[in-house]
Amino acid sequence: MSHDDHEERTLPGADLERYLTELAEFVGLTEADAAVIRASAPAVLKHETALTSALYEHFLKFPATARFFLGPDGAPDRARIERRRHSLGRWLRETAQAALTHDFAYYLLAVGLSHSHRDYGPGGKIPPQFMVAAMSLTQSALAGIFRDELGDPERALAAAVAWNKLLLLHLNVLLLGYLLPPRPASRPSSD
Ligand code: HEM
Repeated sequence: MSHDDHEERTLPGADLERYLTELAEFVGLTEADAAVIRASAPAVLKHETALTSALYEHFLKFPATARFFLGPDGAPDRARIERRRHSLGRWLRETAQAALTHDFAYYLLAVGLSHSHRDYGPGGKIPPQFMVAAMSLTQSALAGIFRDELGDPERALAAAVAWNKLLLLHLNVLLLGYLLPPRPASRPSSD
């Protein structure tokens, strides 16, 4: 690969916060949307455990995603799944604050890199299509929560619209690592 090719495929790096802010403007994620997201946070966080458990149970149902969560004996590594559920819970709680800060942008980048650049169990690295699929599952689950928890359909719709904008910005950062050239040697999981 030439130097130029590499240049084209590097991350927004130091400008990540600006990259996100510009994308937010592009998709029309406004302060009003951020306020709607924060207002919906109690309804979402009330279901945090159900949401994160459902996502991991869903991963375990399909061999293509279950393989990232298997222990050496081939059975689901429940302790590891429980830890991951907590990590996902933290992401959800932080997302509900709808703050596209410098620190949060780099937190998201690090989370993305831990999927694109680390090997897990027999599965290896997480293929990007499952990152997209996981966000789709999250959006669908949230829509159901808004329908059941927010009372009137207008509020539920506004919440779904605002969260969808924000979640796809997140997805964008989570996928950045996949655009980088692979490392010469992969680092095994420290677990
Ligand atoms: C909405 C998309 C996703 C989000 C927001 C997310 C979030 C996270 C977070 C916050 C961590 C902890 C990262 C760290 O501590 O460095 C993590 C780790 C992990 N995630 Fe995800 N994740 C997503 C999708 C997926 C998918 C689709 C898979 C596999 C099918 C997956 C498998 C894993 C694994 C294997 C780990 C590390 C487990 C370990 O260290 O033992 N994630 N994820």
